[in-house]
Amino acid sequence: MAEPLLSVQAVTKTYRRDGQPPHLALAGIDCALDRGEVMVVVGPSGSGKSTLLRTINGLESIDSGSIRVDGVSITDPATDLNTWRTEVGMVFQHFNLFQHRNALDNVALPQRVVRGRSRAQAERYARELLGRVGMADYADRYPSQLSGGQQQRVAIARALAMDPKLMLFDEATSALDPETVGGILELMRALARDGMTMAVVTHEMGFARDVADRALFMDGGRVVEAGTPEDVFVHPRHERTRAFLEKIL
Ligand SMILES: Nc1ncnc2c1ncn2[C@@H]1O[C@H](COP(=O)(O)OP(=O)(O)O)[C@@H](O)[C@H]1O
Ligand SMILES: [Mg+2]
Repeated sequence: MAEPLLSVQAVTKTYRRDGQPPHLALAGIDCALDRGEVMVVVGPSGSGKSTLLRTINGLESIDSGSIRVDGVSITDPATDLNTWRTEVGMVFQHFNLFQHRNALDNVALPQRVVRGRSRAQAERYARELLGRVGMADYADRYPSQLSGGQQQRVAIARALAMDPKLMLFDEATSALDPETVGGILELMRALARDGMTMAVVTHEMGFARDVADRALFMDGGRVVEAGTPEDVFVHPRHERTRAFLEKIL
């Protein structure tokens, strides 16, 4: 059988901070995603969801275990982490756009710096992607002149501009006004339909049930339950999953 596009095996991660006891945020995580699949990750606050995405993106190192994307291991000394991060796109709750650059530059500049594209190439692709996320008319606007939902659209376009193999979404709609959430979820659905491989941390259960191929429920740095959305959300086997679902539904 072909190797999954993303494979996470026995990953552990401890946060160590001065003056505080070490905190085991990931206590041995396994998960995998085939090309074109969407995985949703749910779980209570502090369960390690963001840490999992951040380790997959290479923003946090791991203590042990393995993370492989498209046959490349993140812990291989030959792996360049900057290259890795361009291939694993990440969209955050807070959009982290360059405040002093307009939407076009936010999407074009990283292409020039990271991918070495010419200004003309980068701007052409940026305009195409801004169109794809519904922001064609806002290319000249600065982040402060855009709503949260519009900024998130630009952030998604910026991640797509790297042609990532995989996209990670960490509560990408949690900071948005309720009336904006649906549009961003619709955009994420469109990406999934177009075949993007995605790992999505979200509390949007409608999205999770409709779009996801796989679901994980995490608690205390562990995967408590994994399976299809139907398995995990409709027929949970564990009491902790049931208790969590009761709270958020
Ligand atoms: N940079 C950090 N330093 C120390 N502890 C952290 C750090 N980031 C997260 N943690 C702790 O790790 C645990 C998991 O956090 P996180 O991955 O953010 O959970 P979630 O995204 O599920 O809310 C929490 O107990 C959190 O306080
Ligand atoms: Mg989080």
